Amino acid sequence: MSTRHLLDITDLTPGELRHVLALSVAPPPRSLEGLGVALVFEKPSNRTRHSMEMAVVQMGGHPVYTRGEEVGLDTRESVEDVTRILAGYHAVIAARVFSHATVERMAACSSVPVVNMLSDRSHPLQALADMVTMRQHVGAPDELSVAWVGDYNNVARSLAEAVLMLGGAMSFGCPAGYAPAADEIDRLSALGGPVRSSADPVAAVAGANVVHTDTWVSMGQEAESAERRKVFAGYIVDEKLMASAAPGARFMHCMPAHRGDEVSAEVFDGARSLVIEQGHHRLTAARGALSFLMEKSGKGPQS
Ligand code: CP
Ligand code: NVA
Repeated sequence: MSTRHLLDITDLTPGELRHVLALSVAPPPRSLEGLGVALVFEKPSNRTRHSMEMAVVQMGGHPVYTRGEEVGLDTRESVEDVTRILAGYHAVIAARVFSHATVERMAACSSVPVVNMLSDRSHPLQALADMVTMRQHVGAPDELSVAWVGDYNNVARSLAEAVLMLGGAMSFGCPAGYAPAADEIDRLSALGGPVRSSADPVAAVAGANVVHTDTWVSMGQEAESAERRKVFAGYIVDEKLMASAAPGARFMHCMPAHRGDEVSAEVFDGARSLVIEQGHHRLTAARGALSFLMEKSGKGPQS
C-alpha cells in the first residue's frame, strides 16, 4: 500500500474530501496514541502551528515543532536526509515551506504521510477549514457560490479546488497578472462546478454567497509589497463591494488580515464576517486531515 500524502486538495478524490470533512466534525479518534508528528516551519504561523499541535494532542499524540532554519533544509542537510530520519520517529511529517517542490521532495522519500502546511502553491488545511465553515454557516457545498477577490494565491487555489470538487461555483475577481491563467481556469473547470473570472471585482462578486480574500503580499513576497499595493488598490472588500454580492453574503479571510488593504475594518469585524469561526475550524480541519491519514497509513481504525 503506497503512503498517502496531503500536499494539495486534489490529492484527495471528491469522496475522500467529503470523508475528511466528516472526520473533521466527528469526535477525534485516538489514532496518534504514543506517536509523534513532526511540524517543520520555514515561515511564521499562528493558526497552523497551534491547530496542528492541539489536533495531535487531542488524538493522543505528541507534536514536535522545529523551525526551518533550525533543521536547515538543504543547508544543514538535504530535504531527503531530514525527511528519512524524521519518518523513523514520527507517524506524520508536516511542513510549511517556501517552495512547493520541498514538500514534493519530502513526499517522494517519506515512508509516512507528508502534510503541506502551506507552500507557495497551496494551503490545503486552510481549504478544509473553509469548507467546514461554509457548510456550517452558508450551506451545502453545491449551494456555494464563492467569489475570490484579490490575489490568486496559495489559499485561493486550494479553496477553489475544494469548492469545485464538491459541486460549488467559483468566481475570481483578480487584476491582470494576478488572476488564474487560462490553463488554470481549464484545470479548475475540469474538477466540477462552474468557474468564471473577471478583472472587475463588482462583476466577480455578483450572486456570490461567500466573498473570500487574503493578503495582497504573501509570505516570501515582501520585496514586491509596494508594487502589489498599487496593483490591488481597487480590490478592497468593503461594504460597497459586499453590497454587490448576494443578499446575506458572508465574508471570509484565512488571516492574518490587513484592515484597510484587502478588507475594510467594517467588513472584517462586521456581522457578515466568519473569520473567527473560520480560524477556529483550522483545529477541526487539522483533526480531519490527520484522522484520514492515520486511517490510510494502516494505524487508524479503518485501516
Ligand atoms: N491562515 C493561516 O495559515 O494562518 P497562520 O499563518 O497564522 O498559520
Ligand atoms: N497567502 C498567505 C496566507 C497566509 C496564511 C501567505 O502565503 O502568506
